[in-house]
Amino acid sequence: MTHVGTTLLGDALTVSRLGYGAMGLSDTYGPADQDESLATLHHAVDRGVTLIDTADLYGFGGNEELVGRLLATRRDEVTLATKFGITVGEGGLAGMGTRGDAAYVREACEASLKRLGVEVIDLYYMHRRQVSVPIEETVGAMAELVEEGKVRHLGLSEVTADELRGAHRVHPIAAVQSEWSLWSRDVERAVVPTAAELGVGFVPYSPLGRGFLTGTLSDPSTFSGDWRGGLARFTGDAYERNRAAVATIAEIASALTVTSAQVALAWLRQHAVALGLAAVPIPGTRRAARVDENIASLDVTLDAEQVSRLDQVAEAVVGPRSDHSDPDWVSDTRE
Ligand SMILES: NC(=O)c1ccc[n+]([C@@H]2O[C@H](COP(=O)([O-])OP(=O)(O)OC[C@H]3O[C@@H](n4cnc5c(N)ncnc54)[C@H](OP(=O)(O)O)[C@@H]3O)[C@@H](O)[C@H]2O)c1
Repeated sequence: MTHVGTTLLGDALTVSRLGYGAMGLSDTYGPADQDESLATLHHAVDRGVTLIDTADLYGFGGNEELVGRLLATRRDEVTLATKFGITVGEGGLAGMGTRGDAAYVREACEASLKRLGVEVIDLYYMHRRQVSVPIEETVGAMAELVEEGKVRHLGLSEVTADELRGAHRVHPIAAVQSEWSLWSRDVERAVVPTAAELGVGFVPYSPLGRGFLTGTLSDPSTFSGDWRGGLARFTGDAYERNRAAVATIAEIASALTVTSAQVALAWLRQHAVALGLAAVPIPGTRRAARVDENIASLDVTLDAEQVSRLDQVAEAVVGPRSDHSDPDWVSDTRE
């Protein structure tokens, strides 16, 4: 059985080599049964996964409450990561905006602590930047939460390299959490090298491409009813072309008698090491068996030829990684 083991994010935060993302436990990618979800969370911790990732946005607070049910009995075994900064209006997700002013940071943290039922958050991320607020103000407010003992380490999601530098001058940043996978590699241009230079850890989100890279989404009806059904990469002609683009992953998986999910995670791990930084992906799944499958990726080693073939996958992918109507929503457009 694979030993998960630990690694260091930044210079002081020890976490499991693979984390767990809880977003999908709030119906993001199809309906999630809450009892099964809680059992899956317990299973991840049983197996040695310590980094559990949630956000105040997921399930509009419900995801933090679910993680809080895990923490009620296992707080000491978990490195708890949550996020603030995305607001929802009356239109729910359709009315999403951002806030990063100091008063909001404090208010959001208090609300998360309450829903999670804890006194301190181990890793507190800015989820999205409100671009009209200087990053120094937002991170300054986050640093005050550290001083007050409400937060232990700071993280940033979807920041540019310059924003990361500015933030890191205010307070050490333990981790950047941004999308990074075989088919979404924009962060490699500037954010990854900057994180490596500053000694900031990386937490790749959607490391399985929201399921696409696992090769299990061969029937569009399995995702057309959830959020992915509206994403450019999953729709129409792009869906077919992207299926062809990622076929290499399945070929390599078959040659190694492992799964495509394991190849996608192994590539990310090896690639991050080659680029000089610690990366702890946080794949999400509703199912305990897939937690085991994803953990077993830690035992998969790709040879140079396989890595080289996988390095070419992203070039053939069609469609933007984010379809959000706000052009500043992800970091690449602000670079
Ligand atoms: N900071 C941000 O802005 C941001 C944005 C997105 C996500 N995140 C975080 O990153 C985490 C992971 O990202 P994600 O959930 O978007 O995408 P992901 O981990 O790339 O993919 C999740 C999807 O893959 C499926 N899956 C998982 N393991 C599998 C396996 N071994 N074989 C086949 N299918 C598998 C899951 O389905 P089943 O549930 O059916 O297994 C789910 O539909 C989230 O939970 C969240 O914590 C952060």
